[in-house]
Amino acid sequence: MTPEPVISLKNVTKVYVLPSDEVVALDDVSLDIQKGEFVAIMGPSGSGKSTLMNQIGCLDLPTSGALYIDGRNVRDLNDDELTELRRDKIGYIFQKFNLIPLLDLRENVEYPLILKHKKKDESGYPEKLLKMVGLEDKRFKHKPAEISGGQQQRVAVARALVNDPAILLCDEPTGNLDSKTSAQIMDMLTVLNREGRTIVMVTHEDDIAEYAQRKIVISDGRILSDNGRYLNDN
Ligand SMILES: Nc1ncnc2c1ncn2[C@@H]1O[C@H](COP(=O)(O)OP(=O)(O)O)[C@@H](O)[C@H]1O
Ligand SMILES: [Mg+2]
Repeated sequence: MTPEPVISLKNVTKVYVLPSDEVVALDDVSLDIQKGEFVAIMGPSGSGKSTLMNQIGCLDLPTSGALYIDGRNVRDLNDDELTELRRDKIGYIFQKFNLIPLLDLRENVEYPLILKHKKKDESGYPEKLLKMVGLEDKRFKHKPAEISGGQQQRVAVARALVNDPAILLCDEPTGNLDSKTSAQIMDMLTVLNREGRTIVMVTHEDDIAEYAQRKIVISDGRILSDNGRYLNDN
């Protein structure tokens, strides 16, 4: 028996309505991702990759079709349940690191814990994660603007891990980084995947996509190929 996919899209269409016209950013996309997969999403600029990530990340609802996370239709969740799902199940690592400029690095990593427990962390877990991603103690009190892009991305990885999410969503996680730092970030993602986390990663770089076991190419909001298998029914 095939286990239930951790992420499942059924005929997902996303239309952005603009004052002058409509953009079909995702066009009837169906896709199953199993627990523990490491999937790379590729495709030209404007093909719908980030829109797909926003759907999988439950940051936006489909215009039509359905998204299931762990078998639950996201549309059936109320606001509190959605907030919990995003906070506890999904870690987000995006190209622009989205760290909070006014918080120091430790506080940035602690922040999702505060949202969850409504109090300051006393476990030392944010510090442990920062060390794990290779940040030295003496940097913990620095602000994001005081460290390099590569270090900021490490902090973003630590922050994404603090609530121990089963799913990591990475949108061009190495997009702003030099090749050596990119390889280090990708090695970290590889380890996190081997530990059992499901990873969905957008990239336009072939060598970065090589880290994934499954490559999905999208074009004009549709899946063009899935691991080399062309979907020619559309
Ligand atoms: N918030 C938005 N409002 C209107 N159009 C959007 C929005 N976000 C994306 N789009 C459009 O949807 C299409 C897909 O965009 P996107 O998912 O960002 O592509 P990619 O990440 O592959 O570059 C593009 O035509 C883009 O202009
Ligand atoms: Mg994008």
